[in-house]
Amino acid sequence: MSSEALFARGLEPGAYTSREFFDAEQRLWESCWVVLGYATDVRETDSFLTGKLGQLEVVVQRFSSGLSAFVNRCAHRHMCLQQTRTGRRSLSCPYHGWRYGADGRPTSMPMLPKALLEHAQTDSEFHLKKLHVEERYGFVWVNASTSPESLDDFLGPEMRALLQGTSELLEERFHQHTETWAVNWKLAVESGVEGFHVGFVHPESLRPLVDVSTVKISLHGRHSLHTTELNAATLGSLTRYRSLLGLKTAAGIDLTAYVHILVFPSLAIGISGGTIVSTQFNTPSSPDGTELNASLWQPRDGEASPRNAMIKKGMLGKAVEDSLQAIAEDRHIAEAVQRNMRAETHRPVLALPAEARLSHFHRTLQEAMK
Ligand code: FES
Ligand SMILES: [Fe+2]
Repeated sequence: MSSEALFARGLEPGAYTSREFFDAEQRLWESCWVVLGYATDVRETDSFLTGKLGQLEVVVQRFSSGLSAFVNRCAHRHMCLQQTRTGRRSLSCPYHGWRYGADGRPTSMPMLPKALLEHAQTDSEFHLKKLHVEERYGFVWVNASTSPESLDDFLGPEMRALLQGTSELLEERFHQHTETWAVNWKLAVESGVEGFHVGFVHPESLRPLVDVSTVKISLHGRHSLHTTELNAATLGSLTRYRSLLGLKTAAGIDLTAYVHILVFPSLAIGISGGTIVSTQFNTPSSPDGTELNASLWQPRDGEASPRNAMIKKGMLGKAVEDSLQAIAEDRHIAEAVQRNMRAETHRPVLALPAEARLSHFHRTLQEAMK
């Protein structure tokens, strides 16, 4: 058997630790479709969300005409327009009160001559820098390229079909939190792209839920997924739960498996038996730091009886507990690996066939950075 069939060489430690590599990657983030947050957080007029796209601070704002995305920086003296992760207020600057419209032009400049406001309409120095934004599949996607490929082309047909199905399940967000990991963002992504570690790292939180010997991997363009069959007890309890609460199922989403999807670069979606969905994305802050944003969802249920309300509380409480434990377990490993990456300067990581999604993630990144 040739060595290529047995293992592949992945990225070298410098890709996880060097400032130069990080800066090059950040430019890549600025030219990709990146999930900045959730459509449910920007439904109302004046609601907004903020985040980072590479080095760019970004705001996505809901106007009566729709969503607009901008670099989150006032044209006057560079103050951030919106300062919280999500919220609801007009797109106006906290420093001197300039207010902006959906096209990024000022609509109000308090205490200044009307002639200046008139001038500001046509002088681009007074306009916000506009970015491409799409609201699709329950997510808000932003792209900072001047002429990006379409989101449809970026995702490809298989991912579009899967995300369409997933979006039907993203109705009730029952948990959300962010935490900062002392790791390169790629290690946070990599903790999700194989099931090979589950038996070792998650003996209580995830191992009992699935049959880890049944992992099937597929690669789709820059993206990838794996499915693992649920064990009989998990399958039974999710099936009973869905029927008791009258939860809908989504076309194309397997009711008997745990499906893990990675949409490059960092959107990770885990779907348990077509019912409970976890979504995560990263905001890299430095070669050794990333902010992980994690949420849990289920389809909306009808009017629940007190008994069903108790069952729901138990099911979702257990899902939150398992998820938090699994995140803590992955974080512990990833932070230890990051420290060792700093110590080991050249040997690449080794990826086994069970880690084909890891190799694919590395190849995709290298390809995108060329
Ligand atoms: S910095 Fe924004 S109005 Fe002055
Ligand atoms: Fe894990």
